[in-house]
Amino acid sequence: MRTVADLRSLRAAVQAWKKEGLRVGLVPTMGNLHAGHFSLVELARKHADRVVVSVFVNPTQFGPDEDYTRYPRTLAEDSVGLVEHQCDLLFVPNVETMYPAGPEHALRIHVPEVGDTLEGAHRPGHFDGVATVVAKLLSMVDPDVAVFGAKDWQQTRVVRRLVRELALSVEITTGPVVREADGLAMSSRNRYLDSAQRARAPQLHATLEWMRESFIEGHARVAVEGAAMRRLERAGFVADYAAVRRAEDLGIPADDERTGLMALVAARLGETRLIDNLAFD
Ligand code: PAJ
Repeated sequence: MRTVADLRSLRAAVQAWKKEGLRVGLVPTMGNLHAGHFSLVELARKHADRVVVSVFVNPTQFGPDEDYTRYPRTLAEDSVGLVEHQCDLLFVPNVETMYPAGPEHALRIHVPEVGDTLEGAHRPGHFDGVATVVAKLLSMVDPDVAVFGAKDWQQTRVVRRLVRELALSVEITTGPVVREADGLAMSSRNRYLDSAQRARAPQLHATLEWMRESFIEGHARVAVEGAAMRRLERAGFVADYAAVRRAEDLGIPADDERTGLMALVAARLGETRLIDNLAFD
């Protein structure tokens, strides 16, 4: 595996592969890699001949009170894991490469509607930062396929809309959520949890399963959402939302809509904010 930080080396490597007729896959990450990320590297390998992983903790997707400065940066361990998972090229741009004018003066891409609700409403500007950095990474790497995890379901919908509207010639593929044995979705932020919080954390996934069951039993969406919020609060979370939405565009389903739906939750345990989701069918 080669590690490159500059655009010239990145482009030379990718162009050489493309000249040989090889398909190139990209897995964008912020590092502190775990089995969820590695599952995407393996998925990328199924769709491409060469796999590029980017590690960049993107300042523009963090709010002013969020964890940008303390976000775990573990490049040495990440590299070891990526070699094991047969990544071909690790791209580790610095902030100046990604944001030549500085992050606060950067171009910003806003993805309306699908980017404004749920995470977009609770973390203003978050998806502008995500859309902007993903557009930059796609432009820099120029992959044939890019792989994202369903763990951040709304992010996958934002990225698909970005790609469609910018008419980018990249295929977007989504990999399933990878979970711990007790149901907790793997996340770089799980390491912030103390042992008491870690013991409560699986209630997030349990609540999603409960929402799916109650909805399938015929309970109304609003009732399911309200009861799920109370369930999370009882389990010690401070909940931002527990929502039943259309999977496609995160829109609010009509009362008689029963297919193509999913539940999404965001809740805090102490300072740590966790998100998760579950498709209903
Ligand atoms: P990050 O949180 O590092 O996640 C990188 C990719 O791994 C995302 O597509 C995310 O959905 C996926 N992922 C994380 N945990 C997962 C799990 N448990 N199972 C399956 N996939 C999982 O998401 C980002 O970084 C950033 O927003 C990024 C897209 C890199 C833009 O900065």
